[in-house]
Amino acid sequence: MVKRAEGALLQSISINRQGSHGLIIQICTHLREFILSGSLKAGGRLPSTRTLANELNVARTTIVECFERLAAEGLIETRVGAGTFVSQAFKNERLAVPAQKPMISEKSARLAQSMTSASSRFVPRLVHEQRPFTTATPAYDAFPMAQWVRLSSKHWREARKDILGYPEPYGHEVLRKAIADHLRVNRGIKCDWQQIFIVAGAQQAFQLIATTLIDPGDKVWIGARNSFVVHGADLVPVRVDESGLDVADALAKAPEFRLAFVTPSHQQPLGVNMSLERRMALLTAAQDQGAWIIEDDWDGEFCFSGLPLPTLQSMDQAGRVIYVGSFSKSLFPSLRLGFILAPPALMQHFQTSLDAFLPGVPTAIQAIVSDFIVEGHFATHIRRMRKAYHERYQTLYAGVQAHLSDYLDIMPTSTGMHTVAFLKQGLNAEEVAKRAAERGLTLTPIGRFCIVPYERQGFALGFSGFSTAQIDAAITVLKDVCADTTAAREAEPA
Ligand SMILES: Cc1ncc(COP(=O)(O)O)c(C=O)c1O
Repeated sequence: MVKRAEGALLQSISINRQGSHGLIIQICTHLREFILSGSLKAGGRLPSTRTLANELNVARTTIVECFERLAAEGLIETRVGAGTFVSQAFKNERLAVPAQKPMISEKSARLAQSMTSASSRFVPRLVHEQRPFTTATPAYDAFPMAQWVRLSSKHWREARKDILGYPEPYGHEVLRKAIADHLRVNRGIKCDWQQIFIVAGAQQAFQLIATTLIDPGDKVWIGARNSFVVHGADLVPVRVDESGLDVADALAKAPEFRLAFVTPSHQQPLGVNMSLERRMALLTAAQDQGAWIIEDDWDGEFCFSGLPLPTLQSMDQAGRVIYVGSFSKSLFPSLRLGFILAPPALMQHFQTSLDAFLPGVPTAIQAIVSDFIVEGHFATHIRRMRKAYHERYQTLYAGVQAHLSDYLDIMPTSTGMHTVAFLKQGLNAEEVAKRAAERGLTLTPIGRFCIVPYERQGFALGFSGFSTAQIDAAITVLKDVCADTTAAREAEPA
């Protein structure tokens, strides 16, 4: 019999003989918890292996093995002739905390100054629920899985040292070359493959750029990007009109800017294409000021007809544009794969940052994507998606015009994965979005993309990820939602 005060505790060990974990793991877990929580006191004697085995109705060798494991972890110690004891290291009672309750609360955890001051200004992550009209969602149903699986199994069978070893920090050479070729043929960009750096998605690209270039207080034109906020950037809200970013407005607000963040081929979220005049003005301003421009070409591949518009990078003579691409939209977001095309003056600096703290992206993934591009599947997929997205967009546009014109003014677009619709009748976007969410729809109010309140109420409506039938059905629901919101508003006391 276990006679000590701890006896009852040890007897309370419950064992599941059908459980997926073996007896040794289960018993060790209980004993470890008792010791770490202070329920078994430092220096306290444990029952003998024979006694405990009898109490728990297990083989003595099982308890011997448990004690050996816990001794190897330093939790217990065996003294020859005296018995087994909880390690004296647990004498410090402050270490003994009840198993499930951490002592440090979220509030009392002291954070880095940069994080403390930035976190309240972070833009909340947009929730990507797979339902209409979530934005930035590729057509997963149309992804060529068979080719992907074939290339995956080919690359995971390659020499282990190549796929399992540390990846090249600037990116897999074959992928860097494939991207450089793709950009030359499809985006009018001439670059050396060594200017391409592979990162884990566009968000990591922004993080790398901010770490490399931004000091606290630096003025950054627009781009409510958390990566810049956390580096202490002073985000300058700039007007956007039908010609894109208003450079004159930006210069008036922050002439000494350090960086401008733009999405010229498809402004996020309004969807406008930056005019040639504005592009030239932006490039000139950056050159005059010695500032940098991030060109986030996030969905520029998806123009519905003709060739995609030229990139800002391809017009940049001074080497001031940092072009950022992502495979999140052109392939799928869980890949976490993107790239930076660095201007020559920044290549060395990005190399330094990548060498210092960004250890690269899984090699096999890069090799698969590289083959996907080189074998032509990427171009085919983009072509097919342009067609599919065009059709889905037309369904949305026609549906909103036919059924929702009392409530929404939908903007035409010729590219991308979403469009914008403005609310009529003084309806509030957040209120409509809330009601829509209850009915299974995601509407993203434009205000969520802005630093200061936007002058009009409206939504970004994603269409790329949903079949035409889903879009039609969602329009019917949205009509009810708008009607209900209007009725509720009218019923409010004046
Ligand atoms: C403006 C913009 N740029 C880039 C991206 C892609 O980011 P990532 O490559 O990290 O998925 C997104 C994602 O929705 C986006 O909205």
